[in-house]
Amino acid sequence: MTDTTLERQPTLTWSDDLVMNMDTMDATHREFVDLLAATELAPEAQLLQSFTELIAHTETHFGGENQWMQDSAFGPGGCHTDEHDMILKVMREALRRGQTDNNLSLVRQLTTELAIWFDNHAKSMDAVLAMYLKEVQYDPATGIVHKPQQLPEGITAGECGVPEVQ
Ligand SMILES: [Fe+2]
Ligand SMILES: [Fe+2]
Repeated sequence: MTDTTLERQPTLTWSDDLVMNMDTMDATHREFVDLLAATELAPEAQLLQSFTELIAHTETHFGGENQWMQDSAFGPGGCHTDEHDMILKVMREALRRGQTDNNLSLVRQLTTELAIWFDNHAKSMDAVLAMYLKEVQYDPATGIVHKPQQLPEGITAGECGVPEVQ
């Protein structure tokens, strides 16, 4: 089997602008970026295995954020959760087609699209969530909100939780 991806670079690598200063979120996001890059560059024989690991990681990643939003009664949480669900659905469908039709190009193409999607999602929805969780002093280890209040001043939850700076 030829490896045509040897010279390629991943679409997304970790950088400081992805840091949200929330340790649990940042650690998971780092792992996601690494796993996504590994999948994007995986040789054909390992592509589906790597993509399966990425999906399992993403289920935990999204599940964690969904739980935080629920625990903290985060206003735009429904929209954020819907986006997580939609992305997981697309990933599972691409895996299914990769497994049944051996349509690896679909999985390969999706990894590139996921890199672009994640960069945007992290800097919008996840950024607003991290800011809110910090403001309300949410502890992800215990699920306790120590200082319940509204969204931080200057930030309102725009449509689907995308920040609108006033
Ligand atoms: Fe995230
Ligand atoms: Fe998210």
